[in-house]
Amino acid sequence: MKTIVKKIADNFGNQNQEIITAGKIIKEGGLVAFPTETVYGLGADALNPTASRKIYAAKGRPSDNPLIIHIADIKDLENIALHIPVNARQLAEKFWPGPLTMIFEKREIVPKETTGGLDTVAVRMPAHPVALGLIRAAGGYIAAPSANTSGKPSPTLAEHVAQDLNGRIPMILDGGAVQIGIESTIVDFSGEIPMILRPGYITLDMIQKVIGEIQMDPGLGMEDPSAPPKAPGMKYKHYAPKAELILIDGEQDKVQKKINHLLKEAIISGKTPGVIGTKESCNGYRWGIVKSIGTRSDEDTIARHLYQILREFDQQNVDVIYSESFSTPGLGQAVMNRMLKAAGHQVIKV
Ligand code: TXA
Ligand code: MG
Repeated sequence: MKTIVKKIADNFGNQNQEIITAGKIIKEGGLVAFPTETVYGLGADALNPTASRKIYAAKGRPSDNPLIIHIADIKDLENIALHIPVNARQLAEKFWPGPLTMIFEKREIVPKETTGGLDTVAVRMPAHPVALGLIRAAGGYIAAPSANTSGKPSPTLAEHVAQDLNGRIPMILDGGAVQIGIESTIVDFSGEIPMILRPGYITLDMIQKVIGEIQMDPGLGMEDPSAPPKAPGMKYKHYAPKAELILIDGEQDKVQKKINHLLKEAIISGKTPGVIGTKESCNGYRWGIVKSIGTRSDEDTIARHLYQILREFDQQNVDVIYSESFSTPGLGQAVMNRMLKAAGHQVIKV
């Protein structure tokens, strides 16, 4: 299959031909990759079981890992979800369109092929104009996981989608670089107390301010890596770079000293090491391939470049990557959740 890549200009109009064509492909049961504000998604008609199955095949995704349904209008939530509590409506009012996914009991109309066999459904209204345009053109309900091959970092550029899925899907809509760079926050409303199953740009604190009571899934393994996560997708070894990734955590000057020491040792033993540092620290590394992920004065920049950097290291065939750690109470939670998984929880404390 030939994959067509179409650039969508920032100021695209209501009747954009590429988006209409993409919507038609999805309506007819095909797949289209498209930009959202978090990462690129791989879309199919969420209400068509055959179309959903194609997503799993194209990504090599385990069939028990459910998909998120993307909508373009808050009122469409009622058509696919049951028992929507008041606090979930408050979050939708506050954060939709945006990087927040919520889980509810599903309605009959949603096929189990889309929900990985579950009776619950994950729903998100994305904030990207191309995504919203495509959802409307496709009939209102697009099931979309991140548009990477299963196990690879999520795509933050259309080029990343092409690296993974070229020849496997008919169309990629190219909306340039995404804004956020890590996947949406997932909040489960199907239990007694709302629970964060995946941290993201919308933090625990931001949610607490709107609805009060909210829990973090203990299975996220931020403290105990052996606890099983509640979101099926969070149990797979995701975001894994080809090289071994090791996080160094502690005071900045000690971290830098330790990484320089490890770099030297790696080189002596014949390895090609890489470093993930920041604009502030990169000059201090003396060996290896050094990359700046962003600046500590703006943690958004760190989230935005994480996956791109992991992909770049894959292409440069490094053997081991040493990374500074980026745990802050805000977005740092989400960044560290992804980094700990990519590192298989290998952390050196200094
Ligand atoms: O930002 C995002 O959420 C992106 C963009 C494309 O919207 N999408 C995304 O989808 O990250 P995906 O499939 O890569 O991740 C969805 C996660 C998986 O961990 C999956 O297990 C979980 O959501 N999930 C989906 N439906 C669920 C459900 N009913 N119950 C529990 N977890 C669910
Ligand atoms: Mg994914």
